[in-house]
Amino acid sequence: MKVLNFGSLNLDYVYQVDHILIPGETLASSDRKTFCGGKGLNQSIALAKAGIPVYHAGMIGEEGDVLLETCKENGVNTDFIRKIPGPGGHTVIQVDKEGQNCILLFGGSNRSMTREFVDSVLSSFEKGDIILLQNEINELDYIIDAAYEKGMMIILNPSPYDSALDTCDLSKVSLFLVNEIEGYQITGEKEPEKILARIKELYPKAKIVLTLGGEGSVYQDESGIYRQGIFKVKAVDTTAAGDTFTGYFISSIIDGMPVQEGLSLAAKASAIAVSRPGATASIPIREEVLSSDIK
Ligand code: RIB
Repeated sequence: MKVLNFGSLNLDYVYQVDHILIPGETLASSDRKTFCGGKGLNQSIALAKAGIPVYHAGMIGEEGDVLLETCKENGVNTDFIRKIPGPGGHTVIQVDKEGQNCILLFGGSNRSMTREFVDSVLSSFEKGDIILLQNEINELDYIIDAAYEKGMMIILNPSPYDSALDTCDLSKVSLFLVNEIEGYQITGEKEPEKILARIKELYPKAKIVLTLGGEGSVYQDESGIYRQGIFKVKAVDTTAAGDTFTGYFISSIIDGMPVQEGLSLAAKASAIAVSRPGATASIPIREEVLSSDIK
């Protein structure tokens, strides 16, 4: 069984600010750093650092060699990453004193997927393989349909949620990983219990992880509901916390861990990521997660 993550790769330009800008305001930042990120890349690196061999498929732009290098350094297979002319995906991220962020995304090369490229990537995968997707690349609906046709197991983190998801057949998804906002956008419900109930009505065969910020996370499948609290750390930068959770939780499924242990592993990895700056750079390796004594 192979794992393919078809997703974005971004350069994150991270600005340290006193507070997140309000409309019309001009504010000096105290620091700027450039990190490798993108929900796709972060999740591939989280999987790899958790010990799962992963293929990343996607496109980088002219300035994107560092993203390719980061994949290689972290053991992510790069056979399906293409470099194309023009600008790559990038973000402008403000991080405030509490470690909270806001992200402005420019899609760049992440919006250049073609159906031919999708078909050629998927031709190397087969029934029973896993495909992980987010919503930072184009042709998501086509990828879901094509992967389903092949009998791949589809895992979707529908983030950031936008109208492109309305054209996707979400009944083909086996596992959703969503936060409360995305849960609301999919179901129209705000209460966690109601989000879970509505997902069950809409997609009865799907499993779901609902992350609840400071309230932890909840997992639901046909066997029931499992809850997990957070591990407390001083927040430095929350960027990629959700991606770390996603990669680690999926690794626990692949490793056959009991759900509760998988949720705990993912929550701990995510907390460690929050305690340090950057996206891919903040994601801990499995040994660090296992030996950490954070509570
Ligand atoms: O989830 C965090 C990621 O979202 C950042 O690395 C940024 O690139 C945006 O895509």
